[in-house]
Amino acid sequence: MVRVSNNDRIFVLTGAGVSAESGIPTFRGVGGLWRNYRIEEVASPSAWRRDPRLVWEFYSMRRRVAREAEPNPAHLDLAKLEQRIGDRLFLCTQNVDNLHEQAGARRVVHMHGELFKSRCDSCNRAPFADARTYEPPAELPRCECGGRIRPHICWFGETPFEMNRILQALDGCTLFLAIGTSGVVEPAASFAAQVSGRARTVYVGPEEPANRYAFTERYLGKAGELLPSLFEVVERR
Ligand code: OAD
Repeated sequence: MVRVSNNDRIFVLTGAGVSAESGIPTFRGVGGLWRNYRIEEVASPSAWRRDPRLVWEFYSMRRRVAREAEPNPAHLDLAKLEQRIGDRLFLCTQNVDNLHEQAGARRVVHMHGELFKSRCDSCNRAPFADARTYEPPAELPRCECGGRIRPHICWFGETPFEMNRILQALDGCTLFLAIGTSGVVEPAASFAAQVSGRARTVYVGPEEPANRYAFTERYLGKAGELLPSLFEVVERR
């Protein structure tokens, strides 16, 4: 049981595992490959330069899968926790689906971008809502400026979004909780180590993560099964 008191500020970091029970495959482990490509081979600026069609095929597949998915008890429980403790919860996800929002979470920080948004790879037009899928041999989407429209995703080698807010929230948290993330992709993999020593660090997921030594408590099991009875919110007057 994770006790949450009036003074706690919670930083929650979610990864692909939190959406696994909604039918969205994780990146690593069983079923973690797409057409024999590792994620790093289709989610990078060099893949985009080399073969933008391949990149769009990959993200179109992911848009199709995510469109069908519904939030599971883990997403719902985190939304409920946000309702109870408000902005003392900072919900940071590496996931690009919108299942936290669908579950009712209001303030989700998507450090790796959002699957249902696109942007131009040349001009500074703001990212925009976009759920289209690319079907070969159609033309790839173009911006009015002539640039290519790309998924609004942080690829390998690019800087995650909202890092200033994230670092500030890490600085102020008293409880750090990572859920369903293998602890190998930086910078998120280092967040737990960054706060350990001054904040409680908790991991939830079926397997030990690669950065397990940074956690003071580990709850091994599926997020959708553990989360609904994990928190004890103590409200003292
Ligand atoms: P991974 O695929 O690396 O890890 C998923 C984790 O979820 C594993 O540790 C599993 O044990 C765990 N897991 C599986 N089922 C679960 C369940 N029901 N409940 C809880 N946990 C479960 O995914 P991430 O760590 O999120 O980046 O990957 C980080 C980043 O790597 C992703 O955001 C993505 C990827 O490349 C980009 O696309 C930029």
